[in-house]
Amino acid sequence: MEKKMQRQLVKEAARALHRAYAPYSKYHVGAALLTTERKRIVSGCNVENASYGLTICAERAALAAAVAAGYRRFRALAVVVSGKKRKMPPCGACLQVLAEFCGPDFQIFTAASDQPDKINVYRLRDLLPHVFRLNH
Ligand code: THU
Repeated sequence: MEKKMQRQLVKEAARALHRAYAPYSKYHVGAALLTTERKRIVSGCNVENASYGLTICAERAALAAAVAAGYRRFRALAVVVSGKKRKMPPCGACLQVLAEFCGPDFQIFTAASDQPDKINVYRLRDLLPHVFRLNH
């Protein structure tokens, strides 16, 4: 993907990070998904809950918002986390949910809010080589 689009996606994820609701972990996460059709960007943030296990990750929030808006095909995802560490690929639950809609070549960019210009690039196939699928 072109560097310009990559940077734009990270910028949108950083914007979403500011809307994170994370009073318990104080770990703010923003995510931005690039749709294949019409190259729309749909973002999400983590939404925590007093009943900790009900917390929704930024990646799944973005995916649910995108599907609800009518998109089901995606090219890439950017994730921005608060702090300095940018090696923060999506958690296993989010990878499985992404794999429902995204193929093995799907790209994932991660960056830290303190250094948004430094971006790590991953592919879904490397982060989740064995996807769970139901045989219909
Ligand atoms: N979190 C995400 O938003 N995405 C991930 O992939 C992992 C973790 C959030 C959940 C929780 O609000 C906080 O980060 C700390 O785990």
